[in-house]
Amino acid sequence: MCGIVAYVGPKDAAPILLEGLQRLEYRGYDSAGVAVVEKSAKSLKMRKVKGRVADLAAAVPARFKGTLGIGHTRWATHGVPSDQNAHPHLCADERIAIVHNGIIENADALRQRLEGDGVVFRSETDSEVLSHLIARTSKETDTLEEAVRRALKLVVGTYGIAVIDAERPGEVVVARNGSPIVLGIGEKEMFAASDVAALVRYTRQVVHLEDGELAVLRADGFSTFTSDARETAKEPFTVDWDTGHYDTGGYEHYLLKEISEQPDTVGRTLRGRIDDRFHIAHLGGINMDARESRSFRRVKIIGCGSAYYSGQIGAQLIEELARIPADAEPASEFRYRSPVVEPDTLYVAISQSGETYDTLAAVQELKRKGGRVLGIVNTVGSAIARECDGGVYLHAGPEVSVASTKAFTSTAAAFALLALHLGRVRDLSPADGRRICDGLRRLPEQIKEILTQEEHIRALALKYAHCPGMMFVGRVRGYPVAREGAQKLKEISYVHAEAYPASELKHGPLALINPDMPTVAIVPDDELLDKNLTTLGEIRARSGRILMVGHRTTDQADDCIVVPKNEIELDPILLTIPLQLFAYHAAVALGRDVDKPRNLAKSVTVE
Ligand code: AGP
Repeated sequence: MCGIVAYVGPKDAAPILLEGLQRLEYRGYDSAGVAVVEKSAKSLKMRKVKGRVADLAAAVPARFKGTLGIGHTRWATHGVPSDQNAHPHLCADERIAIVHNGIIENADALRQRLEGDGVVFRSETDSEVLSHLIARTSKETDTLEEAVRRALKLVVGTYGIAVIDAERPGEVVVARNGSPIVLGIGEKEMFAASDVAALVRYTRQVVHLEDGELAVLRADGFSTFTSDARETAKEPFTVDWDTGHYDTGGYEHYLLKEISEQPDTVGRTLRGRIDDRFHIAHLGGINMDARESRSFRRVKIIGCGSAYYSGQIGAQLIEELARIPADAEPASEFRYRSPVVEPDTLYVAISQSGETYDTLAAVQELKRKGGRVLGIVNTVGSAIARECDGGVYLHAGPEVSVASTKAFTSTAAAFALLALHLGRVRDLSPADGRRICDGLRRLPEQIKEILTQEEHIRALALKYAHCPGMMFVGRVRGYPVAREGAQKLKEISYVHAEAYPASELKHGPLALINPDMPTVAIVPDDELLDKNLTTLGEIRARSGRILMVGHRTTDQADDCIVVPKNEIELDPILLTIPLQLFAYHAAVALGRDVDKPRNLAKSVTVE
């Protein structure tokens, strides 16, 4: 989704901006642009193109000098991807340039008003109103900061923006409301971006803006303000991700790198959190003592897409280990249905990026209604993490590929820890606590074992990749695994994939089964094994082909992937891994853009 980079300092801004934009490519975009200001000439130069950052770099001339600038990658919402609609956007006299992430909801009304006053728009975007509004308000005041503040007062919607003015060539003004902005502190230079990925090459010292805040960046430092111009004090913190985290590390794709990292990333999620003496989990960040942890009568989990499916695994773990009623719901639905917020319900929000707008808005709604919200989040200091009352960081490192893999398994592992905690302050016995602790500790080695089957899984992916569609089925613990397997396959290979609870097959979708619609069946060795094998029989009786993922081989299936057995509650984490490899190799076989699938963005920061 859209990305912002800004720079002010002694160096040539364009190469820094282009490098930053490259680091944001993983988020998904359709056009890119940069604008710089040359201090001595007080002149603004801009280039923007539909296409990739490489196309933009090729379009930037050698003489594109300036020590202050802004850059943007756009993901179209208002208006098609085109050179004109790409950001930056200029005001009429081309003195002020802005880049914007988010959506201006009253853009049509503002546009009409501005056009009525004679302003000529050059793009179809909602964002362009900002450059014209700031140009107007800058006539009423001496500072760019105040001009931006006044313009933003006229705007309804979400924004992360960066603004430069050729008449004020020493500063960049940035502001946020619902769309992230991070400041990067350098040596006599300042950066800003919508994502730390764009900053880590230059600095690891960052400051997150809060909603409603505005910042003025100059080469020698920065100041932050509330929307009513009160200065705020901000503590910088050090990001522990570096550029290495954003490289493919010798793998052909980020996705394969991230799948392969899972023994480590799951290990990092668990590290220091398993207590062998009392067989409990140490989760300091949840900010709840045992008494409070006992007080909840329900757990409600929210997240979007794969985060939601990992929440379904979490709900199952919490019900089984803590015996508290728990369920997961898409955050995008939850926020719109005016949910009843109960005081004795623990809410858990899940997000890899910590930026997903629907999840953030759901958390904000919960907080407004007095709900207690924990976050299970990967990105430290992100908006969702900051909004929650406490939580668990995944420590999985940055996830670059659009399809989530390592964040999914780390989230499921974090839920196992939370379930263990909630269970052990209730009725989960020390023996069962020990069983889960031991099982958690075995996970990284068992993931490694699954990864050694990559060639076998690749051969299966080649066998099935050309089918017009695939069915994924699982029962109870296997169902969220099936949903995630179908999600991975469809998003990166574009093969139609449908997930169903195995028990529901005969209530409708069985009609779809034929030799061209193979089924991936998740069949763990648990108390439902016989029922699952019966389902396989029903599929075979309709000439359906079956790829079974489980803990044994069977004649009922055409092909099997056998994964190592853990405790039944933890098996879903391991059963997910072959489905990631299956989707990856199917996508490669079909020649897809694996890391940046069509129409998708890494962080969905709009509604
Ligand atoms: C996962 O493969 C998807 N790209 C997507 O469903 C993702 O999980 C979802 O958009 C939520 O993202 P988040 O975890 O960053 O909030």
